[in-house]
Amino acid sequence: MSIESRQQQIDEVIAAEGLDALIVTDLINVRYLCGYVGSNGVLVITRGRRVLLTDSRYMADARERTRGVEVVQAGRDLMDRLADVVGSGRVGFEAEQVSVARQGRFTARLSSVELVPTAGVVEGLRVIKEPEEIAAIRTAAGIADVAFGALIDDGFAGRTEAQVAWDLEGLMRAAGAEGASFDIIVASGAHGALPHAVPRPAPVQANSLVVVDMGARVDGYASDCTRTFATGPLPPDLEEAYRVCLDAQRAALAACRPGVHTGDLDAVARGIISDAGLGERFGHGLGHGVGLDIHERPWLRQEGGEVLQTGMVVTIEPGIYLDGIGGVRIEDQVVITDDGCELLTGITTDLINTSA
Ligand code: GLY
Ligand code: MN
Ligand code: MN
Repeated sequence: MSIESRQQQIDEVIAAEGLDALIVTDLINVRYLCGYVGSNGVLVITRGRRVLLTDSRYMADARERTRGVEVVQAGRDLMDRLADVVGSGRVGFEAEQVSVARQGRFTARLSSVELVPTAGVVEGLRVIKEPEEIAAIRTAAGIADVAFGALIDDGFAGRTEAQVAWDLEGLMRAAGAEGASFDIIVASGAHGALPHAVPRPAPVQANSLVVVDMGARVDGYASDCTRTFATGPLPPDLEEAYRVCLDAQRAALAACRPGVHTGDLDAVARGIISDAGLGERFGHGLGHGVGLDIHERPWLRQEGGEVLQTGMVVTIEPGIYLDGIGGVRIEDQVVITDDGCELLTGITTDLINTSA
């Protein structure tokens, strides 16, 4: 689907929602709909007109890079030109994203329109990936695999968690990434029991599990992969946690196909971890969609009410976190196919022992 067909689809959604216009302020949604990549842009879509408001810093790049929009220069807060382009009637705005202060500025500038809070209008299109989007994510996942491969070859080599994270980011950039898709997690020993640990300036511990969670970004698209390594012989509870987590992850991958409810998929993994008496140690959801955003729909959670469809890209990432001892998470990124799912991440999930 080209940007032009995304624009055609959003026109149809706006009409179906009974809106006369939509003000798109989420920069990822703006990028998705017209290609703008700057930090200050608002896309206004009316019946028959699409206008990107941006400021002088971005005019030349926006004119060159975007498609299917008029690019209009506005002042720094972009509000001074809003009334000129919004028109009249029922005007939607992205309620999840607009601050109270900005809503106040909308109200002040657009006194003659009916402002309508909306949620998920553009995100609903983004949830199914086009072949070009899947190709970008596949490339990003391959780049992260290169960095994981170097880590497996070299071990942690006496480095601190923070040094390892920095080196992994460098490897991904050298392999063609625009950057890391989120702040890389390297967490050893008891620190690994924090699902989103911040790497410390402390050496990676021996005889422990080390959680390494990273992804690359390519053409704006994110990859996301976690592997947990052993740095020597493990205490039995950590060995058991790894084995249970891997069983849960493999079972969820095997159950991943179109038509499955996200809550039911979460239950496949959670059931295995709970049966091992570790259910309380798996506090987060099974996974999430990934695209231009690192975390986006569909949400694979206990309360998840979505249904997997061909073309969604999601993570499958159960974790077990033992306070004061250590943690394990095993995360793959997959694309849902007509009869199952295809792995985008390529590193083995067998437990790898490497040096601290
Ligand atoms: N990197 C965060 C996550 O795996 O969701
Ligand atoms: Mn991750
Ligand atoms: Mn993830």
